[in-house]
Amino acid sequence: MTAMRTILVIGMGVGDPAFMTAQGVEALNRVDVLFVLENAGQYDDRISLRQRVLDRFVGGEQPRVVMAPVPPHKVGETEAAQRALRADWRRRSIELCAHLARDELADGQVGAFLTAGDPALYDGMIEALAQVAEEVEIDVEVVPGVSAVSALAAAHKISLTRPGGAVLITTGPRLTAGVPDGIDDVVVMLDPDQLAFKSVPGEDFEIYWGANLGTPGEILISGPLREVEARIERERAAMRENQGWVYDTYLLRRVLR
Ligand SMILES: C[S@@+](CC[C@H](N)C(=O)[O-])C[C@H]1O[C@@H](n2cnc3c(N)ncnc32)[C@H](O)[C@@H]1O
Repeated sequence: MTAMRTILVIGMGVGDPAFMTAQGVEALNRVDVLFVLENAGQYDDRISLRQRVLDRFVGGEQPRVVMAPVPPHKVGETEAAQRALRADWRRRSIELCAHLARDELADGQVGAFLTAGDPALYDGMIEALAQVAEEVEIDVEVVPGVSAVSALAAAHKISLTRPGGAVLITTGPRLTAGVPDGIDDVVVMLDPDQLAFKSVPGEDFEIYWGANLGTPGEILISGPLREVEARIERERAAMRENQGWVYDTYLLRRVLR
């Protein structure tokens, strides 16, 4: 009988190895092979964060690192073309993960992916591995991490929820379609270029904005949206220029009068 291969999906937090949880560190120390799905030269900050996590938290010999370039994202002209491209990207990512599970892990070994933040939020790895498990015999384990959403709230010293209230977590493109009725608090992720907060009525909302959270270049801005949106736009552009990349997450909070 052959021993099962295991693949761990470990949330590593955002920006700073200090966001690793004790459970994440324990899991990391079981790993034989770490898979890094990044394109060198493109996301070097994320590659170096993983290396800093290994250097800080792996007690003995470090796992073998297998770098695998991810298929490039393409942008479709229409909604339907975009959906088809997304499905094709998912299919190719699943094939890549299946190849890693089959060809880079020996029976009984433990492989892992260190994913940004928490793997349960806007990360396809859990879903991809569920598909892989249909064709390759693997046992999948998930270890939660500190998401950009939690890091944002802590950095601003706020709670995301008001007493008994609801909070919507959504993306920049979805926000541009409007804040749904009955929603007063919205966390926005994946807003790389659109500055989707400009699409909501600035006089009705406050914003709590955080960029490159957990890094030495972290910037936090909060206040009435109308008053601070121009400053956010300027800081964002300057960050992209100076730091080479910007990841931002923000809470829009309706002012209840
Ligand atoms: C693909 S999603 C991954 C989210 C991740 N799983 C999490 O739990 O935070 C990428 C988005 O996460 C947010 N993000 C990731 N790292 C961040 C950081 N250091 N500071 C602010 N937002 C970040 C941004 O909204 C970015 O567009």
